[in-house]
Amino acid sequence: MNTIENLKKYNQTRILKLLENASAQNAKTLLTDLKKLNFDEFFETYNESQKEIKIDESKIKELPYLVKRELNPQMNKLFFDLGMEVLSSGEYAVVTMAGGQGTRLGHSGPKGTYSLDIGGSQKFLFEVLKENLEETNKKVGKTIPWYIMTSPENNELTQIFFENHNYFNYPKEDIIFFKQNHLPLIDTEGQILIDKDYHVKKASDGSGSAYNSLKNDGCLEDMEKRGIKWIFIGGVDNILLKQTDPVLLGMAIYKNSQIASKTILKSYPDEKVGLFCSYDKHPRVIEYSEMPREIAYELTNDNELKYKEAHIMCNLYTLDALKFLSEQKLPYHIAFKKNSYLDESGKEIIPFKPNSYKLESFIFDGFPYFDDIALLRGDREENFAPIKNKEGKDSPATAKVLYKNYHTKR
Ligand code: UTP
Repeated sequence: MNTIENLKKYNQTRILKLLENASAQNAKTLLTDLKKLNFDEFFETYNESQKEIKIDESKIKELPYLVKRELNPQMNKLFFDLGMEVLSSGEYAVVTMAGGQGTRLGHSGPKGTYSLDIGGSQKFLFEVLKENLEETNKKVGKTIPWYIMTSPENNELTQIFFENHNYFNYPKEDIIFFKQNHLPLIDTEGQILIDKDYHVKKASDGSGSAYNSLKNDGCLEDMEKRGIKWIFIGGVDNILLKQTDPVLLGMAIYKNSQIASKTILKSYPDEKVGLFCSYDKHPRVIEYSEMPREIAYELTNDNELKYKEAHIMCNLYTLDALKFLSEQKLPYHIAFKKNSYLDESGKEIIPFKPNSYKLESFIFDGFPYFDDIALLRGDREENFAPIKNKEGKDSPATAKVLYKNYHTKR
């Protein structure tokens, strides 16, 4: 089937009209780009992602967890020592997922290149993460290899940024960039968006892309060569993220778990966080938007929330677990976002509110492939200062205060 036939088959009326109105050069650019798109595969994924996720409440159970501040001194030391052993032997790597669009923050470059005034000086998000790694590097006398996931949209800018900042003096050979996949954006009418340069407008396909992309870009192989056994995967936008907690690592080793996660306590029933639970006897994170209300509000006999372990993108895996996950096809979810596009006359439309769907797989959709997960609850004030929005909740302003409070108490 040729491109025009595909456009007709999938009712892409806006693009068909745009092609009629475009200059020969622009039409050629657009057609060349569209030719590369596997329409059947994309629309199958899109249709799948549109299906409502059905949660069977009877399958939801609590998942065991430990609370870090309640560990007795012997247990704490046991976990700490086990974790330090791995960190000191150079068997630990860190992955930062920095391929997101960062639409809510509205920063013009890659999110990791956003800077804010913390601790009396201006720091980039990448720099904050680097400092956290360096602290451990100094303690263990080794450099933790740092894998950074970019997107096709921000890869070049991210790499140039690191180059321009001399890799923040982190050994260049220990920073490895890899690229995640991207998919077309589509509006509420099912029309694929076209960018102002007459290319199909695409966006990174979610944090869950990390698993396949680590394999496809040769990072899993690289880890194997370096003798890595444990890998931390975290986000780019939490300035209190603890990427090398020996206690979490030691707990995973002690429990013989393939995967582990640091959680924080959900503060109130409607807080917009994903929650850990056991679903059909497998660990799972249910997004706040998909969590049945009765479950979100359910209380224990002690009048506490029954499901309260929030996922904060602070996850650990054995290399074998990552190899396994890299072979799986995770489900896609739909995220409603604000994206500009060309209308049928070729005029750029910049929406003021969300207008389009982004197809995303989530990193936590890898968890149900396992029988268990080691969960360690950390203190919110020590572990969580996210930067999601430009203003208000989870913004640079709130993160700065949390960062300052934590560092003055230390
Ligand atoms: P978010 O889900 O908060 O999304 O990502 P975002 O793209 O950064 O921001 P919004 O929603 O457009 O405002 C959480 C983490 O996952 C990474 C992000 O970079 C961030 O570290 N991520 C997200 C990716 O690496 N790739 C993606 O496709 C999505």
